[in-house]
Amino acid sequence: MKDYIESNKQRFLDELFEFLRIPSVSADSRFKGDMLKAAEYIKRRLLEAGLDSAQICPTEGHPIVYAEKITDLALPTILVYGHYDVQPADPLELWDTPPFEPTVKETPAHPQGAIFARGACDDKGQIYMHVKAIETMMANNTLCCNVKIMFEGEEEVGSEHLATFVKENREKLKADIILISDTSIIANDIPSVETGLRGLAYMEVEVTGPNRDLHSGVYGGAVANPVNVLSKMIASLHDAYGKVTVKGFYDKVKELTVEERDSLEAAPFDEEIYKKDLDVDAVSGEAGYTTRERASIRPTLDVNGIWGGYIGEGSKTVLPSKAFAKISMRLVPDQDWEEISDLFTEHFKAIAPPTVKVKVSRHHGGQPYVTPMDSIGYQAAYKAMEEAFGQKPVPTRGGGSIPIVALFEKELGLKSILFGFGLDSDALHSPNEHYGIFNFFKGIETIPLFYKHFNQLYNG
Ligand code: BES
Ligand code: MN
Ligand code: MN
Repeated sequence: MKDYIESNKQRFLDELFEFLRIPSVSADSRFKGDMLKAAEYIKRRLLEAGLDSAQICPTEGHPIVYAEKITDLALPTILVYGHYDVQPADPLELWDTPPFEPTVKETPAHPQGAIFARGACDDKGQIYMHVKAIETMMANNTLCCNVKIMFEGEEEVGSEHLATFVKENREKLKADIILISDTSIIANDIPSVETGLRGLAYMEVEVTGPNRDLHSGVYGGAVANPVNVLSKMIASLHDAYGKVTVKGFYDKVKELTVEERDSLEAAPFDEEIYKKDLDVDAVSGEAGYTTRERASIRPTLDVNGIWGGYIGEGSKTVLPSKAFAKISMRLVPDQDWEEISDLFTEHFKAIAPPTVKVKVSRHHGGQPYVTPMDSIGYQAAYKAMEEAFGQKPVPTRGGGSIPIVALFEKELGLKSILFGFGLDSDALHSPNEHYGIFNFFKGIETIPLFYKHFNQLYNG
């Protein structure tokens, strides 16, 4: 199989580049046509790889691409999930090379080169590994599991229509395990398998003061300024210990045992390098927890955007009528995103002074998720990583969210294996996103090993 990958290396890369050139931005309706193009592209490549019945399933939003290869009903079935949509590339001026013109450059973490493009790592590069891994297994007659593919186009905007698709296609999606490459490993020489994802509750608030923008000299000082008020309210959402003050926020948080915390802390991590990479002199967060714990096993609250008043060129002396913020919370087991959204809404209204009116609305959310390490899925992932990297992988807990994963468990009764190959430093969602060429090919090499070990553990 390695020979096949080696002799098709350039073609695999060329195809990925072609895929990355399609600006499949799900959040922005101007790219609706490109979303369809990306779906068509991946469908065509799935057919070429040897999968059957590749189809584009329309939804009320962006389409889902589905394909399968059922060779023998006695074999276990792997359902591969991933997303072909990407985050908006803005701010464009911060990219060193154009986001939809893939360019290879070396970086300290990627001495063998990395592909710079929006979606290179999250998640087009990673789903393409699966397409090429399946092609490789089929060409070498080593496909030892049935496979179903489900690539969606709305992961970056909340997976609303995938949820409906899953509920309506329970039979079609029947499988033994879900395999997802949309997360990270610790480093290219330190393989790891993520065993959890955080949930998410995404809110938007609107604070209204006077019924119109006012002259800040004529009225300033006498009428509450909603931008000032909102800033104060936001500041009060954390206490001096970095704890979120929303009433009831921590009530359902399951504390980890000392053993669990110690074992996660045993994974290599260098806080100095971490700070240097981000160019910050100090880290910050909830007292009593380490940097990694703060970014994985603990819930958080962050402002994602804030606006109001005059932000154009020059100055304008205005007392604005309205102020807004987008606020998201990352959640951990057993917090429930709908309950947390309600708690936030109540709390935010309760802390508003009588000088303003407050509106709170909900965007989207998802539940937190954990993979049981004693399952054959996790064991297969572990063995595959160990065999491919020549080193035992480290279990880690991820800080990001893939909201649909908890829904898969609820609706399909299936656990997901987080089998990602990116690095946290690959600038996902940021300018200059990239994906290591090493990582891309390592993924293509490791995925068939998962199939092999999953088949063996399933039968044994
Ligand atoms: N692939 C990421 C999630 C991720 C990244 C998990 C790194 C673990 C490590 C995914 O595409 C993503 O960005 N999810 C969003 C959630 C969504 C509702 C916008 C997130 O985590 O913000
Ligand atoms: Mn992703
Ligand atoms: Mn993402």
